[in-house]
Amino acid sequence: MSEHEIRVNIRSPLSGDLMRLIGFYGGLFSELFRISPDLVQKLQRRAMNSILSHEREIIVADVAKSPVGYAAYCFGQGVTYLDHLYVMPHFRRIGVGSKLLEEVAQDSLCNSSFRICLQLNDDSGKDAAIRFYEQYGFVRDGNRMVCRDLSKILEKRKIKRFK
Ligand SMILES: CC(C)(COP(=O)(O)OP(=O)(O)OC[C@H]1O[C@@H](n2cnc3c(N)ncnc32)[C@H](O)[C@@H]1OP(=O)(O)O)[C@@H](O)C(=O)NCCC(=O)NCCS
Repeated sequence: MSEHEIRVNIRSPLSGDLMRLIGFYGGLFSELFRISPDLVQKLQRRAMNSILSHEREIIVADVAKSPVGYAAYCFGQGVTYLDHLYVMPHFRRIGVGSKLLEEVAQDSLCNSSFRICLQLNDDSGKDAAIRFYEQYGFVRDGNRMVCRDLSKILEKRKIKRFK
């Protein structure tokens, strides 16, 4: 991909994003859990219901006006549970995941939530995910990672260029 400035836009999902989001859920499930295509499809159907029923907050990241990733999270008492964070493989390591996490942190503060917590799965993407979250002050707590100081996430990150 040629070198040019990357603009990442974070926004709420629109109805036209539904199929793309379902595709992202499928990408996340098959990448992280190494499960059969049948089970991925089953989980995608469940995800569609979850999206349509607004069970979780969902944000979408656009690059060049196309969705390339998303985050899904919900608020508990003073804590944000980050359920999913996903960036399409081709768009990784350019700051998209960081922008999504930054938006989750901002929304958390607006909802009086001062910690972000997530569950680690035991499968393939775990090491990369741990390295990503450690950048932002998350620490391991058993099979979870917790960030108790959101300021590191909220420091503005410079969006990089495609190499
Ligand atoms: C984890 C994930 C969301 C990161 O998204 P991303 O857009 O690539 O992240 P960023 O570009 O903002 O990375 C920020 C920093 O995190 C660290 N990092 C991210 N991915 C990494 C990897 N694979 N290996 C090592 N460090 C990594 C790096 O320090 C990176 O900064 P650098 O590129 O300047 O070195 C993305 O890899 C992904 O979708 N993975 C599959 C799903 C997943 O594991 N989700 C998390 C659990 S729900």
